[in-house]
Amino acid sequence: MKILFIGDVVGSPGRKMINEYLPRLKKKYRPTVTIVNGENAAGGKGITQKIYKSFLDAGAQAVTLGNHAWDNREIFDFIDDAQAMIRPANFPEKTPGNGSMIVKVNDLEVGIINLQGRTFLPPIDCPFKKADELISQLKKRTPFIFVDFHAEATSEKQAMGWYLDGKVSAVVGTHTHTQTADERILPSGTAYITDVGMTGPYDGILGVEREAVLYKFLTSLPVRFEVTKGREQLNGVLVDVDAKTGQAKSIKRILINEDHPYTED
Ligand code: FE2
Repeated sequence: MKILFIGDVVGSPGRKMINEYLPRLKKKYRPTVTIVNGENAAGGKGITQKIYKSFLDAGAQAVTLGNHAWDNREIFDFIDDAQAMIRPANFPEKTPGNGSMIVKVNDLEVGIINLQGRTFLPPIDCPFKKADELISQLKKRTPFIFVDFHAEATSEKQAMGWYLDGKVSAVVGTHTHTQTADERILPSGTAYITDVGMTGPYDGILGVEREAVLYKFLTSLPVRFEVTKGREQLNGVLVDVDAKTGQAKSIKRILINEDHPYTED
């Protein structure tokens, strides 16, 4: 049982990479479930219905979000109908949308949970307690649970990985847009990586135009961030899960850019 997860899709360069490579990656790895983090997909901020549907058309069965979930106001018009999209589960009660979902593939069910960290991000409900609550619900239906933990601090992501070791199939970090090389299977069978990385511009600063980011660092003045153009990249992970126990067997990083070209083998 394989789960393919694609890291934060940033703007039109990210969408282009999804359209170009997601069908090829699906053909190559034959994942049971494919998940895309789309919180930066619309011009770097939020997501639209058209983009959400384009991810499903490209082969995703689930779309996760994060702290930029609400930045494109169009989301409020379609989130209630977007059954394959989840936002962080630990937003306060009454926040629109769902924080977890189940993907059904034939007889198999895979639970997916989106959580957001609280370190260097706006204060919201406790992601650890919310994880406990959702896992106990999902466990009644399936041993396969995948967690996208959208968080800034490496420490908080590692803490979540260890906290959920043995309780879920995988905990993958998103949000910081740079793929980390610490993928591993924790001792009780949970696949973990601190950050999957991003899918979008390869030569920006976290996907944003370098000039604007540098101006901000050099002057501390407010500046408008735009998604940069040019070369692109795709970052993801493939998690192989034991079909009986729900424990992860392997986690493999996927990195496609001009320095790491895509190959069919
Ligand atoms: Fe984010």
